[in-house]
Amino acid sequence: MPDLTEKVVNLAKRRGFVFPSSEIYGGFRSTYDYGPLGVLLKRNVMDAWWRAMVQERDDIVGLDAAILMAPRVWEASGHLATFTDPLVDCRNCKERWRADQIGDACPKCGSHDLTEARPFNLMFKTHVGPVEDDAAVAYLRPETAQGIFVNFANVVQTSRKKPPFGIAQQGKSFRNEITPGNFIFRTREFEQMEMEFFVPPDQGQQWFEYWCEERLRWYTDLGMPAESLRLRHHDTEELSHYSAGTADVEFLYPWGWGELEGIANRTDYDLTQHAKFSGERLEYFDQASGERYVPHVIEPAAGVGRSMMAFLLAAYDEDEVAGEARTVLRLHHRLAPTKVAVLPLSRKDTLTPTAREVYDLLKVHFMCDYDETQSIGRRYRRQDEAGTPYCVTIDFETLDDKAVTIRDRDTLAQDRVSVDRLLEYLQERLSA
Ligand code: GAP
Repeated sequence: MPDLTEKVVNLAKRRGFVFPSSEIYGGFRSTYDYGPLGVLLKRNVMDAWWRAMVQERDDIVGLDAAILMAPRVWEASGHLATFTDPLVDCRNCKERWRADQIGDACPKCGSHDLTEARPFNLMFKTHVGPVEDDAAVAYLRPETAQGIFVNFANVVQTSRKKPPFGIAQQGKSFRNEITPGNFIFRTREFEQMEMEFFVPPDQGQQWFEYWCEERLRWYTDLGMPAESLRLRHHDTEELSHYSAGTADVEFLYPWGWGELEGIANRTDYDLTQHAKFSGERLEYFDQASGERYVPHVIEPAAGVGRSMMAFLLAAYDEDEVAGEARTVLRLHHRLAPTKVAVLPLSRKDTLTPTAREVYDLLKVHFMCDYDETQSIGRRYRRQDEAGTPYCVTIDFETLDDKAVTIRDRDTLAQDRVSVDRLLEYLQERLSA
């Protein structure tokens, strides 16, 4: 599907996954809002990550650090000095570009009259408190990772974890990207899911390999086809200032292979820097061996919007049902915004009380939708487009046989199941 991106963007807008931010004012510079279905998909992506990274492991704990941090953090981390992109201006049309993303001509007007590249720091600056002077300058965090490093000692003391162990965090990050774009792939405000895994120095490489495999598997476990994923190791010139080795989990977007998540071997860089700048000891003391060391860190760092975009692209499908074209999102049931739609065949008063009872029975267990508008065929299509795995239809026979029809989004198979067994039937299929 050559125009897949356009189709997904249109569907996302039409069905309330993603809206341009401040749309009634003409939108605002590549920022987006998540609508009723989008917020559910986003939460499901984040919950699936939290479940795999924290809930199902006894060696990783969670954290939620502030977005605003002491400015010294960004001096220590190297972001103030080196978190830059090379910026060039076109002297003809005045457009600004990332030098490494264009050739020797301006992509807008074709002019070769470009300025020399100069470093442009991507951090958003603000002021804290009522005085806007240099002493009040603060930055919106460009990554969640630093909140983890500065809390290393707090977490070790309170959780009694010892290396190898990890600290996981999800939250907003901000980067003043020169050229955001491709919908929610690259935005200036975005959400990250990062985990810093602290290991004894001689175990860095083995855990780096472990996390590369583990993170790749997370995407395939959630239904992403293995052939649209790959692991790409960075060349030395490409490495970030803190990294001794990085591999990207890449997805085959319609515009080519692109980064989904980065896995970096950050060595002892961050803890050492923060120890130096703060004067605090950021080490681990192993009481059993009497050994004291600065742990090395392996970091899988994923983006929420970028993962959502990839999951939507991978799930988008068009087929034909009973001679009619349909659009369907084949999302994994854990990611699907709505798990079950309850649909009374008609709006007649005779069906409503039973349909409402079924909805009340299910809504405490799953995210459900109740829809009694339009024809049943139209309602099935709406649910297919939203990626709802199961539709439960209440018809006039239900009043006699106390059974409902369950339609499967992907196989289109219809099962007649008694209301008594309905919850068990859905739990079996949706809890895996
Ligand atoms: N702490 C390491 C770090 O932040 P990164 O590769 O710069 O590494 C990690 O970012 C992930 O965050 C990326 O793989 C991507 O999924 C997401 N991300 C980074 N910049 C983004 C942006 N401008 N818009 C959307 N997602 C972004």
